[in-house]
Amino acid sequence: MSHDTFPTDRPAVVTCGLPYANGDLHVGHLRSYTAGDVFSRALRKLGQQTAFVCGSDMHGTPIAVNADEEGVSPEEFALSYHEQYLETFPKFNVDFDNYGHTHDETNTELTQDIVRTLDAEGYVYEKEIKVAWDPIEDQPLPDRYVEGTCPYCGAHARGDECDEGCGRHLEPGEIEDPVSTRTGNPAEYRERTHKFFRVSELSDYLSGFLDRLEGTSNARNQPREWIESGLEDWCITRDLDWGIDYPGEEDLVLYVWVDAPIEYISSTKQYTERVGPEVYDWETVWRESETGEAGGEVVHVIGRDIIQHHTIFWPAMLEVADFSEPRAICATGFVTINGKGLSTSRNRAIWAREYLDEGFHPDLIRYYLTTMGGFQQDLDFSWDRFQERVNGELVGTVGNFLYRSLLFAQRNFGGTPDADLSAEVEARIEEAIDDFTDAVNEYEIRRAGDAAVKLAQFGNEYIQRNEPWKLDDEEAAPVIRDCVQLAKAVTVLLEPVTPGKAELAWAQVGGEGDVHDVPVDAALEPPAAEFDEPEELFEQVEDDRVEELNEKLDARVEAATATESESDETPADEGEDVSDELELLLEDRIGFEDFEALDIRVGRIESAEPIEDSDKLAKLEVDIGLETRQVVAGIKQLHDLDELPGTKVVLLANMEKAELFGVESNGMVLAAGEQADLLTTHSDAEPGTKVR
Ligand code: MSP
Ligand code: ZN
Repeated sequence: MSHDTFPTDRPAVVTCGLPYANGDLHVGHLRSYTAGDVFSRALRKLGQQTAFVCGSDMHGTPIAVNADEEGVSPEEFALSYHEQYLETFPKFNVDFDNYGHTHDETNTELTQDIVRTLDAEGYVYEKEIKVAWDPIEDQPLPDRYVEGTCPYCGAHARGDECDEGCGRHLEPGEIEDPVSTRTGNPAEYRERTHKFFRVSELSDYLSGFLDRLEGTSNARNQPREWIESGLEDWCITRDLDWGIDYPGEEDLVLYVWVDAPIEYISSTKQYTERVGPEVYDWETVWRESETGEAGGEVVHVIGRDIIQHHTIFWPAMLEVADFSEPRAICATGFVTINGKGLSTSRNRAIWAREYLDEGFHPDLIRYYLTTMGGFQQDLDFSWDRFQERVNGELVGTVGNFLYRSLLFAQRNFGGTPDADLSAEVEARIEEAIDDFTDAVNEYEIRRAGDAAVKLAQFGNEYIQRNEPWKLDDEEAAPVIRDCVQLAKAVTVLLEPVTPGKAELAWAQVGGEGDVHDVPVDAALEPPAAEFDEPEELFEQVEDDRVEELNEKLDARVEAATATESESDETPADEGEDVSDELELLLEDRIGFEDFEALDIRVGRIESAEPIEDSDKLAKLEVDIGLETRQVVAGIKQLHDLDELPGTKVVLLANMEKAELFGVESNGMVLAAGEQADLLTTHSDAEPGTKVR
């Protein structure tokens, strides 16, 4: 089955992964929310009826754990963050039609209804399982109350997720060497009765679902592998006080990932309750038609860490409870800083509030986050690249074109001159609209933004080519008429990405109505005969600002890295590496040619001396047959230097030369791990022998 092209005659709902009401929002979160907001605005521009909904994720152990530490109730704790998010999103022009939370009545009722249906349909059974238990405190340790080793890849992992390794969801009882994150006590496993959802029986349905699923390819490929390797049933209850009760069971609450996605439906329902079903009807979207087809277009925008929940567990629940399956799932890559995952506990992040405090307009980071690099690729945040994008494209291309053309039009004609739109420009605008439409249909948010920027670029070339300043009014009129039309079209097409700035630009071209509501076709409607003198739309980000921001960020990253190498008394946070674990294998393969580019030789250490000013470095003379190399190596404290002469080593001979503490290093001695265990040869290969 293939889907109809957007705009369809059915309503759409765009959702974003719910933020855990657990801490301040950072640029990583913003990547998802800006992407969702841009996409929903773009759909509307195409004339698609669209609701954009989200809510706070209030349940789960991270919230229970943190509330515990602060000595407040989980509800109070989560609500305070919920309030904060409600205020923060509009400041980034992220404009949800409804923003609820998972603990409200709508979601509690709907969740219990759906669970009752799963049960009534025979998809839930009870099973005795082993759950982690703190024997000293006599407390159950669900999910993030426990950490240990991933049974699949051996990485350090949280109780419910291998967050630093293979990324898999972990079921209760799976984690090895469990330790309580509350007390540090080694945990034991105890038998408890829990409820299981028969996901394994839905493999065929889910395979078919993935074949129909649109969005980004990562959201199809990974789950296909999981299905191929065999789906396990899913434990949907926890021994915890905080959460939505399992209907009819006093001791058990539902696992947070049951009620969290249901908030997508609940939030849509609340929207309908506010605006009335004649404006937007949640049931049309979410209820399947009689033939079992989705009633509306459900599009989920998430980060890549929660693909499994959205492509396996969630559609499985929807299928059994007869709700519409998602049409598309768009999973963004992660935002990193200096290549490392953001860490809330270590303050390795750029905070949403901090960005606003710097006085930057929200549209600038929206533009940067949604148009920098591929959607599925990780994005390493950098103020330099932020500046490049803003100064180059927003100021240099878009702002410059709008300002020069509108200023010329206003000064010479008081607005749009009376002339016909040229066929060339009309065709160019149509092309931009087509490009924008295709981009939305292919879920390529970046391309939707590019369509506008490229049109502005064309505008600049057009003005340059026609040199209206050299023409008299009569000759200049058609050129300026074209330019004003282009300015209007750029404004309409850029609205999804930079809605605040588009509002200003819309006023400058004397646009009628609300730029957020006008359809793409407004790009070709005749511009206003009169408008006021324009103002510059964007400001340059100055070099000294960037320098300042970089310094601040560098200091923060350094501090975060320093705490990382201290003992890991704090529970592991988002995706940082732990030094006593094995590093993961690299997935990228290299060809033999790449290997051949390395000139690796057997050598023999002739002398080894400490480098005075350095704690770690030693200077080695290494005989590599053809010559003797002076090499600096970080082994001063790790080896007895006097014993090294005569030792055979392996050396990368064509390493770039470097100077360390004023000593030249001409090659690199290979060693394993933190203790710099020197690589040597097993038998008697002579110095100079090539390693291959
Ligand atoms: N509460 C769950 C989602 C439930 S959806 C039914 C959750 N919350 S979260 O606060 O950890 O993340 C909220 C959203 O932000 C998710 O879509 C997540 O993927 C995204 N991101 C969180 N950190 C991110 C980055 N560093 N980079 C990109 N997206 C990130 O997961
Ligand atoms: Zn793993």
